Amino acid sequence: MVVLENICKSFDGAEVLKNLNINFDDKKITVVIGRSGCGKTIMLKHILGLVKPDSGRVLIDGVDLNAIDRKELNELRKKFGMVFQGGALFDSLNIFENVAFPLRQHFKTVFPLKQHAELRESEIKKRVLLKLDEVGLRNSEYKMPAEISGGMMKRVAVARALILEPEIVLFDEPTTGLDPIMSDVINNLIISTQRKFKHTCIVISHNIAEAYKIGDSIAMLYDGAIIEIGDVEVFKHSENPIIRQFVSGSMTGPIAI
Ligand SMILES: Nc1ncnc2c1ncn2[C@@H]1O[C@H](COP(=O)(O)OP(=O)(O)OP(=O)(O)O)[C@@H](O)[C@H]1O
Ligand SMILES: [Mg+2]
Repeated sequence: MVVLENICKSFDGAEVLKNLNINFDDKKITVVIGRSGCGKTIMLKHILGLVKPDSGRVLIDGVDLNAIDRKELNELRKKFGMVFQGGALFDSLNIFENVAFPLRQHFKTVFPLKQHAELRESEIKKRVLLKLDEVGLRNSEYKMPAEISGGMMKRVAVARALILEPEIVLFDEPTTGLDPIMSDVINNLIISTQRKFKHTCIVISHNIAEAYKIGDSIAMLYDGAIIEIGDVEVFKHSENPIIRQFVSGSMTGPIAI
């Protein structure tokens, strides 16, 4: 479903991705770990077609993103749900409307006629409230983003990403900045929704404990490429000094500080 082939990307002469290759497992959770600034978010942006590679290919469900036009890309993006680093809610919309937003856009094309308005609204209401229930926010639907905590914002972002029941869900550091308990709530939510809807799930993290907990497989991005991919055991018993240093969080080792 999601394949990156020999991706190279530089910004202002600095190479960020250098021949990055990865084939994400379908209907599984893959956690991509790596140091801050190593290119994790840029990798996700390539998958969404928000950034074009200097060379290499991004294949989504067999479709090369370089070979399609803007309209086709927009169509393809409907397969995706995305939780951006930082949440990225619409500040001027309440929680209900934030989650309803993708659904409203979608229904505009499915039920375009005026006489469908009532049907549309009742269906939107039903689905949004169900989703808010799933993320534990059933009674906060009329609050504004500024009135809720960081953990609640992340849950709203998760609900919004899942509302169209996408085939591929991307999470960019979904728990950064949250307390350990709220992090666990979000992680459990990522696991339970993936098990329920069986989407292909890619989670970016720099927290190794989190990667172990939620990843069916873990991939490590280092120096612009994926240097290891495997399950928890592979990472726990890796002989690679770079992985050992990252996993143990040590200052000493081959990773330059
Ligand atoms: N639009 C851009 N223009 C120039 N440089 C960029 C751009 N986007 C990203 N970069 C650079 O690419 C590198 C990788 O950035 P990226 O945001 O992917 O890091 P990251 O691994 O997600 O880090 P973090 O864990 O801190 O979020 C950084 O050095 C960043 O400055
Ligand atoms: Mg990032």
